[in-house]
Amino acid sequence: MRKKIVVGNWKMNKTVTESITLAAEVIAAIGKEFSGCDVGIAPAFPALYEVGKLTLPSRVSLVAQNCHFEPDGAFTGEVSASMVREAGCSAVIIGHSERRQYFGETNAIVNSKVKQALSEGLQVIMCVGETLEQREGGVTGDVVTAQVREGLLGIGNISNMVIAYEPVWAIGTGKTATSEQAEEVHLMIRNTVSDLLGEEAAEKLRIQYGGSVKPSNAKELFSMPNIDGGLIGGASLNVADFVAIVNAAD
Ligand code: 13P
Repeated sequence: MRKKIVVGNWKMNKTVTESITLAAEVIAAIGKEFSGCDVGIAPAFPALYEVGKLTLPSRVSLVAQNCHFEPDGAFTGEVSASMVREAGCSAVIIGHSERRQYFGETNAIVNSKVKQALSEGLQVIMCVGETLEQREGGVTGDVVTAQVREGLLGIGNISNMVIAYEPVWAIGTGKTATSEQAEEVHLMIRNTVSDLLGEEAAEKLRIQYGGSVKPSNAKELFSMPNIDGGLIGGASLNVADFVAIVNAAD
C-alpha cells in the first residue's frame, strides 16, 4: 500500500510575511491527527528559510518549486538544489508545466534538474502532463510517456521520487480530469516506469494528480487505485480547503 502524498504548490503567491502566516495556520490545522499521508507546502523561494523554521518541528515538509541543474556558478537569478536543501527543503518540484510553458524547460532540462536535486538528497516531484491541444489531438499517451522516459533518462533509482500528473488544461481552469481520465494516465505512467525500471520500482512509485483539485473532488480522485495523492495549486492557499483535501487523502 502506497502512502498518499499531498503537496500545496503556492506558486508565485504570498510574500514572506504572508507565507509565515499561512504556513503556521496549515501546520496548526494539520496537527498530529493526520498520520496516513505525507503533507508538504511549497512557498516561493524568499519565504523558504523562515517557513522552514516552522515546518521543521512539524509533520509538514517544506518543498521548493524549482531549482537549477548546475550545483553552483554564474547563473544570475537562479537557485541551486543545495541552497533550497539548506533553507530547509526536503523536496523540490521539477518540470512543472508552467516552467515548461513559460520558461522553456524541455524534457532534457527537467532530466538534468532531477539528477542534480537527487544528488543533493532532495526528494523530487517530477511533473508531467499534456496540453488541451495534445489531448484533443489524441497524443496524450505519447507526450506523457516521452516526458517520463526522457525525464528519468539515466536515473536508476527512483525511490526518492514522486511523479505528478498535471494535465495542463486542468490547471487553474476549474476543469478537473475525471477520476477515470486521470486513472488511465496514471496507470500508463506506472506501466512506463515498470518498462524502464521494473515492476517493483513502479509499484512503489507514488503518482500524484494535480489540476483543479478541490475538497469536492479530492476523495473521488484519491480513491482511484493509481492516484496516490495530489499536487494542489489554488486550493492550497486556503487553509480550510487544503486541510479538507489532506483529510480526503488521509
Ligand atoms: P490548480 O490546483 O490551481 O489547478 O493548480 C494545480 C497545479 O499546478 C499544482 O502544481
